[in-house]
Amino acid sequence: MYATDLLTVREAAEQRRSIRAYAPEPIPREDLDEILRVTGLAPSAFNLQPWRFVVVETPEVKDALAGAAFNQRQVRGAPAVIVLYTDMRDTLEHVDEVLHPGMDAVQRASAREGILRPFAAKTEAEREAWGAEQGNIALGYLLLTAQAHGYQTSPMAGFDADAVKRVLGLPAHVRIPAIVAIGRGVEEGFPHHRHALERIARAA
Ligand SMILES: Cc1cc2nc3c(=O)[nH]c(=O)nc-3n(C[C@H](O)[C@H](O)[C@H](O)COP(=O)(O)O)c2cc1C
Repeated sequence: MYATDLLTVREAAEQRRSIRAYAPEPIPREDLDEILRVTGLAPSAFNLQPWRFVVVETPEVKDALAGAAFNQRQVRGAPAVIVLYTDMRDTLEHVDEVLHPGMDAVQRASAREGILRPFAAKTEAEREAWGAEQGNIALGYLLLTAQAHGYQTSPMAGFDADAVKRVLGLPAHVRIPAIVAIGRGVEEGFPHHRHALERIARAA
């Protein structure tokens, strides 16, 4: 059932680096699908799963995307770039999709109301900002999952979000936590330089 040649979480985290040079070979569709399926297992508040993915492989679209991302070389150079966006309008309009199928009608109505009420008190901008925070959980899953499957990635926040939306025909209200170049890396990347545990964690 499960592939056995995957890295462990620790191995993937130790080996993952931002990679900005890639072999040009396309990524098999089943690998991309599996990486995104596993990414979609990420948890989210209320189980809302507001993340959506556009997998950009067409050279002309990648070229336009690169223009929207300050011409960062990994956008044109990677065989695929995954645009991770979040859409709370779509999520809340279809909230029934994320309610657990084991619930009966009364439980569903109560759960639906319990989710929609707090969001009704927010502005649309607040709702979308909330969704983008959840999207970052999926981003972490995506980076680790890709590495575990033998692919390297380059997460990017350096882009003009309105321009990316124009290139992909995304609605104005969505948020884009990151775009992620993915492929087989052909450079080492930089060694990890991270805080020591004592700097970031304490007991209480
Ligand atoms: C959300 C996010 C946005 C980033 N944006 C960019 C970017 O636009 N361009 C870039 O070259 N690197 C970008 N990076 C890469 C970071 O600089 C890199 O992750 C960090 O320096 C740690 O290095 P490592 O990824 O090799 O471990 C981004 C990383 C993250 C997580």
